[in-house]
Amino acid sequence: MTERLQKILAARGVASRRASEKLVEEGRVTVNGRVALLGDKADPDHDEICLDGKPLPPALSAHTYLLLYKPAGYITSVTDPRGRRTVLDLVRNRIPAGGRLYPVGRLDYATSGVLLLTDDGDLTNALLHPGREIDKTYESAVIGEVTAAKLKRLAGGVRLSDGLTAPAKVRQKRREAGKSTTRTVLELTIHEGRNRQVRRMLAAVGLDVIWLKRTSFAGLSLSGLKPGEYRELTGEELTRLLQYK
Ligand code: URA
Repeated sequence: MTERLQKILAARGVASRRASEKLVEEGRVTVNGRVALLGDKADPDHDEICLDGKPLPPALSAHTYLLLYKPAGYITSVTDPRGRRTVLDLVRNRIPAGGRLYPVGRLDYATSGVLLLTDDGDLTNALLHPGREIDKTYESAVIGEVTAAKLKRLAGGVRLSDGLTAPAKVRQKRREAGKSTTRTVLELTIHEGRNRQVRRMLAAVGLDVIWLKRTSFAGLSLSGLKPGEYRELTGEELTRLLQYK
């Protein structure tokens, strides 16, 4: 399959896509011995692509890594006995031939946001291992105003049915005044991964959730994606994540 050179370079972890464009513009990239021009495409499986006269490093991984902006109304599961839509329905045409893709962790049916999908079981296990303390950031709109005391409780740790939560980073992002009610948007960063943790933390301090969205997982953000869209990880993102393995 042919792809633009900057995409190939970035996927090999050579540089970001923008910086790879510059490498092409500077005439440092050749395809089958000919200096490439910006916009040129090549087939990494068949063409000899060189940077500064040296072949590109091998692909970072033979696995598939997708970053999905999960919309609310999908379950994070491979199948659903109740026939609800699953996150796999959104990436159907990217499931490797004869292979499978799995979500890394879960988001509730009603929660939207960053969800990584991969067939790399070692990375999945590493990212979900409690000892790794991978940061996950959520935004949540709650009904009404939020007192400083509640923010402090959330940040310090709240008692849930399965024990006290670890300290979290919590801040008020904005307050939105509606016609009859006020809502407050909070940002919370946690590193535990308990079931429905954020909803339970908010409920424990008496806050009613309007919506919940994960804005970041292990440093991966939603930028450039709309709900239901996905993209492959960039070479830089993948290089960083693979260090957790
Ligand atoms: N916490 C929740 O309550 N729900 C999610 O989907 C993720 C974290």
